[in-house]
Amino acid sequence: MKELFYLNPEITFLNHGSFGACPKPIFEEYQRFQLDLEREPVNYITVETPRLLKESRQALAKFISCHEDDVVYVQNPSTAYNIIIKNLKLNPGDEILTTNHEYGAMDRTWNYYCRKSGAKYVRQNISLPLLSKEQFIEDFWKGLTPKTRIIFISQITSSTALIFPVKEICERAKELGLMTIVDGAHVPHHIDLNLSELKADIYTGACHKWMLTPKGCSFLYVKRELQHLFDPLIISWGYEAEFPSSSQFIDYHEYQGTRDCAAFLTVPKALEFLEKNNWTEVKRNCRKFIQDTYAEMCDFLNTKPICKISDEFLGQMCSIPIQTNDGIKLKEILYNQYKIQIPVMRTNLDFEGNKNQVFLRISANVYTTREDIEALKSALMEIRKRM
Ligand SMILES: Cc1ncc(COP(=O)(O)O)c(C=O)c1O
Repeated sequence: MKELFYLNPEITFLNHGSFGACPKPIFEEYQRFQLDLEREPVNYITVETPRLLKESRQALAKFISCHEDDVVYVQNPSTAYNIIIKNLKLNPGDEILTTNHEYGAMDRTWNYYCRKSGAKYVRQNISLPLLSKEQFIEDFWKGLTPKTRIIFISQITSSTALIFPVKEICERAKELGLMTIVDGAHVPHHIDLNLSELKADIYTGACHKWMLTPKGCSFLYVKRELQHLFDPLIISWGYEAEFPSSSQFIDYHEYQGTRDCAAFLTVPKALEFLEKNNWTEVKRNCRKFIQDTYAEMCDFLNTKPICKISDEFLGQMCSIPIQTNDGIKLKEILYNQYKIQIPVMRTNLDFEGNKNQVFLRISANVYTTREDIEALKSALMEIRKRM
């Protein structure tokens, strides 16, 4: 199956999670859109792109169960969160309750705007190993205070590759009258996503990871009642629009001047590809592969898993705690000497008495094989002897 992708066959690629990988038929569709743009830029940008974007948004909205006017394409989750956080009008003392497992770019965005406003970003400790939803929920809500205004939480975490029970968190937050912002970068076509059931106020997902589109295709969903709070990051033709669409939210955020929207337009093709190639089964197999591999790698490295090994907490990635005093060097050696592309994640999490635990994160997709894991094990064995 690796031939379906442009991935370099000489590299053992165990990092689908960071930026995804796009199958050839979807990438060809992407390039077709770019060629169409180049052949007739004026008609393509002013007439065709708005029409195709609407079709693409309709397909996406159906897939994630929301209204097509409530979701807009953005390049990446960073863009989405900058739109949101910049507009929140945080006051001194306001608290944003989050976990200590969040993605670095999002932590930084919150830190930036909290520093400017005097608000506080509360990174609640989630204890490891994660053994039950109840344990997570109890840990998380320990961070609640009378000043908490907003909940920010990943549905699948980056460095620890854990699925968090965000539905339960959103439900409780709603009862408490708190705004919920969910970082679902890893979620679309990885685990089930139904926004009308989840009821988060704000949600972001990346399509270029597990939905297999080309890079630079993500989305921002905002609940209808809240959309008026969010000004566009870039003011352009969508403000005071000459030909307004049915959604001011879309007009404001979609028009950004001249730009190439080809990646956004590939979503219908990607969804068709995933359906045609029976991806439900591919995902099931990859999950099983990850769960088996997690147990095996923990044995091999004489360490313990950071969660109960089950569908409840694991999707197509797992993070294995590893003992090393130089994670950057380890990653470099694995890539430069063994041609293994795998993230070595440095964190400030404590696990089993280790401070700042380092994790080796394995992703599995249709092209991942047993040989890839064997290659990793034999490289680690050799490196251990040397280091
Ligand atoms: C939890 C999470 N949020 C966000 C992102 C990506 O954000 P960006 O593409 O803006 O860097 C990732 C990428 O791996 C992620 O794991």
